[in-house]
Amino acid sequence: MIAKILSKLAGKFPKLRSREFFVETFDFQSGLGDSAWLLYGLARSIKPKVCVEIGSARGKSACAVGLALRRNGGGKLYAIDPHSVTTWNDKNSVDSFAIINAHLKKAGLTEWVEIVRKTSGDAAQGWTKKIDLIFIDGDHSYEGVKADWDLFLPHLSEFGVVVFHDTLWDLKPDGIHNRADMGVPRFVEELRAAGYPVITIDQNFGVSLVQPRLGGVKLR
Ligand SMILES: C[S@@+](CC[C@H](N)C(=O)[O-])C[C@H]1O[C@@H](n2cnc3c(N)ncnc32)[C@H](O)[C@@H]1O
Repeated sequence: MIAKILSKLAGKFPKLRSREFFVETFDFQSGLGDSAWLLYGLARSIKPKVCVEIGSARGKSACAVGLALRRNGGGKLYAIDPHSVTTWNDKNSVDSFAIINAHLKKAGLTEWVEIVRKTSGDAAQGWTKKIDLIFIDGDHSYEGVKADWDLFLPHLSEFGVVVFHDTLWDLKPDGIHNRADMGVPRFVEELRAAGYPVITIDQNFGVSLVQPRLGGVKLR
């Protein structure tokens, strides 16, 4: 309803016509919040040829990256998610396949985002493309997030960027979100302690950018 009103208004007022504005009206039911725009900004800046995301659900992060690629005029996001029962589905989104497809279509992003309906483990089999930007937001257990890092680390380009979601989860215990099997904060802290450069944004349960080179890429 709101989306319809907004798109009618957008027809009349040029300033409201941006796709980015339109996508903000979608019902993603995502914990990523405005940090989706961090992914958008990274993808606009990096000009990635190949992006990967692990864990797409209803498509909030996929739309953010897809919008950036569309504005860039190049690149592709491989959005990996089985869209079936896992222990890490958002509430009411056991099968989010039809929903993400509808969102990408409505946003005009099907050319920029390829849905890979697989687990990350299956999608990594035979993977050969160099990855410039990867967003890890799938299996949030320690073993799951570590497996995703291990599987895709060898495929990152020299200035590739890895983004993890929910890295400050342990600092935001509120009863509703508490879960003992959450392993992302512990794993990303281990990366930081081992010497990988990590920048963490204290919003939306924590979003961390990791440069996947021990000590960082040398500047000279
Ligand atoms: C928190 S949601 C992702 C939210 C999404 N990035 C967004 O922006 O709204 C986690 C998703 O990870 C998916 N998932 C769980 N285990 C996975 C795995 N091994 N490989 C790929 N996706 C997985 C679930 O199906 C679920 O849709």
